[in-house]
Amino acid sequence: MTDAILQHREAAVLTLTFNRVDKKNAITTAMYTAMADALFSAATDDAVRVVVFQGALEVFTAGNDLLDFMANPPSVDAAEPAPVFRFLEALSSFPKPLVAAVTGPAVGIGTTMLLHCDLIYAGDNAAFSMPFVNLGVCPEAGASFLLPALVGYPRAAEKLLLGEAFYAEEALDMGLINRILPPHEVAAYAQAQALKLAAKPSESLRITKALMKQPLTQLPAVMQEEFGHFARMLRGPAAMEAISAVMEKRKPDFSKL
Ligand code: COA
Repeated sequence: MTDAILQHREAAVLTLTFNRVDKKNAITTAMYTAMADALFSAATDDAVRVVVFQGALEVFTAGNDLLDFMANPPSVDAAEPAPVFRFLEALSSFPKPLVAAVTGPAVGIGTTMLLHCDLIYAGDNAAFSMPFVNLGVCPEAGASFLLPALVGYPRAAEKLLLGEAFYAEEALDMGLINRILPPHEVAAYAQAQALKLAAKPSESLRITKALMKQPLTQLPAVMQEEFGHFARMLRGPAAMEAISAVMEKRKPDFSKL
């Protein structure tokens, strides 16, 4: 159990809240496990018809906790699937609607997890980024496949190869999010949309979502392949240099890598 993921159910809407603001909601293995458990359980619980993800007003999530990642690097060979991968499996296969309320930075998996959400509402303070290359690793969550399909190759290449932050207007323009709102209105709006969904016939929602996702047959294999590269690269010299540089608040030196 961790209190860094708050779980709250009201009507048939389960809300999962990142609650580690002092570390910018960076996600630890315990947090991945809590979210995976909550999603796997909600998938078959008739009392839950919609799940909402939210963070804090000033930050959605800084993505993987870099120190935790170095201390407990995910492995493809472990007997148990890595918590991050279990979370991504639960997320990508979740049969009911997923709504996200994003305010502030959404870094790394904070952005890629949105590719699996159905409705995404963002504050005008939202900043998205997928700095995997800058960290010496590669995309996860199926982003290398889903992002080009969603926004077109040139834009996906810019976001994934340069890894620079982009903001709510551009995210809306590229079709990554549904709507931009003042930050303090985002959570309430997402809840209201979730409540609307929760009142609809559940089988219709489930079948509609499944039909829309049906063409994504490659996704599980892509996620496995990405994860294999990611886990290996996380132990490599570029990731070591990049993560040390982030923690030491200096520029990384990739000149020999
Ligand atoms: N993992 C672990 N700790 C993190 C973290 C992460 N991903 N992101 C932030 N933190 C910690 C910082 O180390 C700092 O801890 P300290 O107070 O003990 O020094 C604290 O959270 C505040 O971070 P700070 O960078 O000072 O906040 P900010 O408001 O200036 O910037 C972010 C916020 C999210 C833009 C910035 O923290 C960031 O870019 N973080 C790294 C994101 C990243 O590379 N994630 C991995 C993606 S795969």
